This record gives sequence, structure tokens and C-alpha cells, in this order.
Amino acid sequence: MRSQAPGVAVWRGRAGPAVSSSGRLEGPAVQLMQPLQLGELALANRVVMAPMTRNRADADGVPNALMAEYYAQRAGAGLIVAEGTWPEAAGQAYCRQPGIASAAQVAGWRRVTDAVHARGGCIVLQVMHGGRIGSRHIKPAGVPTLAPSAIQAAGTVHTDAAGMQPYDLPRALTRDEVRAAVQAHGRAAANAREAGFDGVELHGTSGYLPMQFLCSGTNRRDDDYGGAVANRARFAVECLHAMAQAIGAGRVGLRLNPGNTYNDTSDDDPLASHVELMRRAAALDLAYLHLMRAPLPSIDAFALGRVHFGARLIVNDGFDADSAEQALAGGVGQAVSFARHFIANPDLVRRLREHLPLAPFDRRTLYTPAAAGYTDYAEAP
Ligand SMILES: Cc1cc2nc3c(=O)[nH]c(=O)nc-3n(C[C@H](O)[C@H](O)[C@H](O)COP(=O)(O)O)c2cc1C
Repeated sequence: MRSQAPGVAVWRGRAGPAVSSSGRLEGPAVQLMQPLQLGELALANRVVMAPMTRNRADADGVPNALMAEYYAQRAGAGLIVAEGTWPEAAGQAYCRQPGIASAAQVAGWRRVTDAVHARGGCIVLQVMHGGRIGSRHIKPAGVPTLAPSAIQAAGTVHTDAAGMQPYDLPRALTRDEVRAAVQAHGRAAANAREAGFDGVELHGTSGYLPMQFLCSGTNRRDDDYGGAVANRARFAVECLHAMAQAIGAGRVGLRLNPGNTYNDTSDDDPLASHVELMRRAAALDLAYLHLMRAPLPSIDAFALGRVHFGARLIVNDGFDADSAEQALAGGVGQAVSFARHFIANPDLVRRLREHLPLAPFDRRTLYTPAAAGYTDYAEAP
């Protein structure tokens, strides 16, 4: 079994989630257990499961019974944001990454959402178009790798077919192709609802397509999708609009992380570009903004979100029970998402509520196929 991710690099967060030396999270989980309404989404508590790519779908991007079991095990979360999922074939970034484009994929996801709802959970799907983060060794033959501009990402990606490969040199999207990609996001939202999801979240960070448009380092276009920040934000805004048109804005969220350099991303002025996008997203009256802490000390992403989007924030990155309680009590955000803690603690909400110890996860099985390190983490006795 491989020790490293066949798909994506292990998340390199700055601060690991804090666990006391006893492995026990300290402090009362009071605020975290309060219900919350975000647009049309009714959360039973404020513990959100952050999206995590786990590369367990069938080869054609169809979610399977194993994924249904994994998400059902974690249905105690007030909201599950299911893993980054491609809206069209050109958007597939990783091997065994699920899609939401075909009838078979919709049917596969239906098993997942039914299983989560049967346990009283609420679940949205993260829609993730990889753009230039992709390889012809991953996508079906003839499916292109497309981006705002023909700028290749530095780095390599695991492919099941040919091992580690450099990212493709992308071809710049034509205007018709930009329009088609926007429409694919609208269709993905409609498909997600048909599959039983309560809503969708646009993946607007980590160097995937919407962020490739937003950031100056990956966008050299001279049409109205490039140049000024208002133009660079246009693609993400149009995707959000298409998604909102399809299923209602109260079921659409957006994920951002100003200053993120993941996947070879760079931006001359991440503050200006993210403020622009936050303001325009706010005007759409979305369900929520899901913010990861900015890696740059000069940017307080959560404060930006409060000012430019409003009081419907899910905050993320490196939280534990105490810091999450403090964040909620201090009005930093309205809910807190946890990713890594959810891997080995399917019953994380109960563990937070009852102050039970947290289990560590095994990095070697993050992205490997099958149940090991995925559905075989036990609940606390
Ligand atoms: C295995 C793994 C896969 C991830 N995949 C995604 C993803 O598909 N979409 C996304 O927005 N973030 C993804 N992330 C980032 C997490 O959602 C989260 O922002 C990050 O782990 C920090 O939160 P934490 O400190 O609670 O773990 C991933 C993280 C991990 C560990």
C-alpha cells in the first residue's frame, strides 16, 4: 500500500488541530451544540464536517456503497460538506474522484444522501472544477485540461495509469467554453438536488478553476474575465449565479481562503480580489461563506468575511473544541468546520459534547482505495 496520497498531497495546514496531552479536548461544548439556520439549511448543531477528497469513488466517478457508509457514520455533524466533486469531465483533478455529471453518478450520490438523511444529517456537495489541476492520464481519452490561461501548474499528481505525472499544460478556455463551464456548474447544482443533497458549495480556493480565474498569477486573459479584479471574479460569480438559479441561493455556499498558495497559486493582491468576490457573493444572498484562515498574517479572513459577506460564516482550519467555542462565543463565525478530526472520529460531535478523547488518523490510508483508514475507525465506547 502506498504511503502517500494517490491523488492529492496531504493537506499542509499550518496549525494541527490541538489535542491535549491526554488526547482529550478540554472545555464545555456549549455553543457548538446549538442549532443554526444558514439560508435554507437547518443545522442541528454548529459542528460542520469540512470537505475532504478521499479518492474512493469507482473509476467512472460513481459514488459507491463504501462512500455511503463513510458519510452515514459522520451524519452527527450539523452539516456535512461532501468532498470536492467535478461538474464536468474536464474538471476532474484526481483519480477516483467522484463526479456529479452523469445519471449513474447522481444515482450513486443518492445512496449517500439517503444514508445521511436516514440518520438525521444534513449534507451539501462541494462542486470542484480542477481547471489546470489535471492530467490526461486521469481523465477519459480526449477530455482536455482547460484553464483561464495556458499556464502550467508546477508540481506532479498521482495517476493510477502512469504513476506520478506533471500537471498538463492547459489550453486557455474560449469564451464559449467559459460559458459552458458556468452552465456545467448550474447543472451540477440541479443534479446534486436530484441526488438528494440539501445544497451545494462552490470550491473557490486551493488553486482550482474559480481561483485560477480570480488570481492574477493564473489569469492573463484580456477579455472581460481577465485584468481588473471585477473581471477576474466574474467566473466565480457567474457559477454561483447559475447554481442559485438552479436550486435557490439559500442552498448555495462558497468556500474561500484569501492568500492560499496551494497548487502553485499566486495573486498580486489577494485582499482586493477576495473582497471583490465576497461582496458580490453577499449580493447573491447565499446560504453561507465557508472560510479557511488566511496563511498571510496581513489578512484576517474571518474579519473580512464578517465585513464583506455577513454573519453566515463557517470558519475553518486548525480548530479544536476550545478554540471553536471561543470563536463562536466571540462572534468570529456562526459555525466551525473540522476536517482532520472527522477522519478518525466518525462520532466527533458526540466526542466534543461529552469531552471524550480524540483518535489520531493514519496518513498512509488517506487516499488509498477500500475501507482501511476510511470506514474502519471506531466510535468511542
Ligand atoms: C484528506 C484531506 C482532503 C481534503 N480535501 C479537500 C477538498 O476536497 N475540498 C476542500 O475545500 N478542502 C479540502 N481539504 C481541506 C480541509 O477541508 C480543511 O480545510 C483543512 O484540513 C483544515 O481543517 P482542519 O484543521 O479541521 O483539518 C482536505 C483536507 C484533507 C486533510
